[in-house]
Amino acid sequence: MTSAPEIVFPPVEVRTRKGRTLRVREYDFRDFGALVEMYKHFEPKRGAQGLPPPDVPRIAHWLDKLQRKSSALVALEGQKVVAHAILCPMSATCVEFSVFVHQDYRQDGLGTTISDMTLNWAQQMAMSQVFLTTELSNFAALCLFRKLGFLMTSNYGDECEMKLDLASLAGAESQAA
Ligand SMILES: CC(C)(COP(=O)(O)OP(=O)(O)OC[C@H]1O[C@@H](n2cnc3c(N)ncnc32)[C@H](O)[C@@H]1OP(=O)(O)O)[C@@H](O)C(=O)NCCC(=O)NCCS
Repeated sequence: MTSAPEIVFPPVEVRTRKGRTLRVREYDFRDFGALVEMYKHFEPKRGAQGLPPPDVPRIAHWLDKLQRKSSALVALEGQKVVAHAILCPMSATCVEFSVFVHQDYRQDGLGTTISDMTLNWAQQMAMSQVFLTTELSNFAALCLFRKLGFLMTSNYGDECEMKLDLASLAGAESQAA
């Protein structure tokens, strides 16, 4: 499989709606311990298609596999990881997206901010389509993804697939400029 071009994500400081100052930057393998720590305390466990896993050995195994094949951004408060957004390549131009915000930091705009940044980063990597799967019962996730411009492409049982066409977004942006 062709890998995405390496585009560096410059670290950025963000201020949330509740006034928290966080730093968003590219995941580095040295963040592994802090990321395991975030997921160890994450709730609900298994809330997003079985993720995150329920215990530390399974969390570490999942993250270890993930870091070998994906690109990711993390949001940090000091040394603490509080959010994680992941791009997992499906083909040369398609990626799968997922995002996790620690429960103490939700409903503060962070999910939107880190997702926006990750999707812009995907666009810079020349990705044209972003896919994700989520549960129809995951109301917060559905609201977030719709707000980001994802459209539902299919559903089966309690799950649906959503798609964001980055190429058409880029076209719309350049027409608006
Ligand atoms: C889904 C998730 C990432 C949202 O993160 P967040 O930081 O709370 O998101 P935001 O604060 O940016 O909210 C984004 C939008 O989602 C909606 N939303 C978020 N939480 C909501 C809730 N509990 N109830 C209703 N709507 C909600 C709102 O429309 C909000 O937009 P608005 O604030 O402009 O009205 C977070 O709830 C989470 O990590 N959940 C567990 C993991 C998961 O399910 N991930 C998604 C599948 S990969």
